[in-house]
Amino acid sequence: MQSFEDLSKKFSAHFDRSHFPEQPASLYEPNNYFLSLGGKRFRPVLCLMANEMLGEIHPDAWHVATAIELFHNFTLIHDDIMDKAPLRRGQPTVHSKYNEPTAILAGDVMLVKAYDYITKLNPEFIPRILTLFNKTAAEVCEGQQYDMDFELRDHVSYEEYLHMITLKTSVLLAASLQMGGILGGGSLGNLALLYEAGKKIGLAFQMQDDYLDAFGDPEKFGKQPGGDILSNKKTFLLIQALEVANAVQKQELQELLNGNATNKVTRVLQLYRECKIDEWAIAQKDLFLNEALGYIEEIAVLAKRKLPLKDLALLLVKRDY
Ligand code: IPE
Ligand code: IPE
Ligand code: MG
Ligand code: MG
Ligand code: MG
Repeated sequence: MQSFEDLSKKFSAHFDRSHFPEQPASLYEPNNYFLSLGGKRFRPVLCLMANEMLGEIHPDAWHVATAIELFHNFTLIHDDIMDKAPLRRGQPTVHSKYNEPTAILAGDVMLVKAYDYITKLNPEFIPRILTLFNKTAAEVCEGQQYDMDFELRDHVSYEEYLHMITLKTSVLLAASLQMGGILGGGSLGNLALLYEAGKKIGLAFQMQDDYLDAFGDPEKFGKQPGGDILSNKKTFLLIQALEVANAVQKQELQELLNGNATNKVTRVLQLYRECKIDEWAIAQKDLFLNEALGYIEEIAVLAKRKLPLKDLALLLVKRDY
């Protein structure tokens, strides 16, 4: 059984090479640039880890892990256009370093390349993996559309937020685990538990992302500080602040959301702190982490085989990067 550290090193050794032809360099160089910035490689490791929970790592798990990481990177390139984000992984985003049309195409071809790796699987696995991959990919698009729609709405409920982050983020973590399980010949019961665990980990993971966007150390987090505040993202932080703020605070928050004050981020953060949103957020995230750990507990394999996944769930949710 290997830890996140072991598996991410092995995955990087496998993945860090060119996945694209040389020409046109104006299309492929941006993709190589983006992949060279690294990233935490959490999703491919989830796939490999679920696979190893059930036995020796299946050779096809490397192809699926590669497809998942390419798909994830495609979503990030397009997400950064949609979110008008200047920075990712501490470096300029693809559309800001090159230009938007290039970033759209670079993302498109990254997605196509992801599917190429699925064609390399043993044919017996292709229908199940492809069906899950397609369902997940469509859901991510749906979640991203809700995320954008919510920017323009004044009120979004906590339930709507949870539904949106389930789609844009959780299902990919869930599918990563379940695909590893499918390649490991997991029982239907274990496959369902892997998926449910992944969904809960994903909720807590996106909550941590939203938390770090507001309260994290930008040096470590590598993204524009307060990016979500600047674009009026309906994160759980904002939803809760609007819920618990007093009348004066609520009015200030509304004014900040409706205007474009130069100190918007500082003032919203101050309101968050006054309303103790930071403490609430950590507790909320831990609820989902504990639900995830409960599902992992139920997976019918020896307890020691589940230890790396338990550790990884904690890392995903408590990270500061
Ligand atoms: C960023 O994912 C997008 C979210 C769903 C929050 P990661 O934080 O896993 O991004 P990288 O790949 O490590 O940069
Ligand atoms: C990202 O949500 C979800 C996907 C990329 C599908 P965010 O927009 O919060 O992710 P970051 O913060 O830019 O990484
Ligand atoms: Mg974004
Ligand atoms: Mg986004
Ligand atoms: Mg974010």
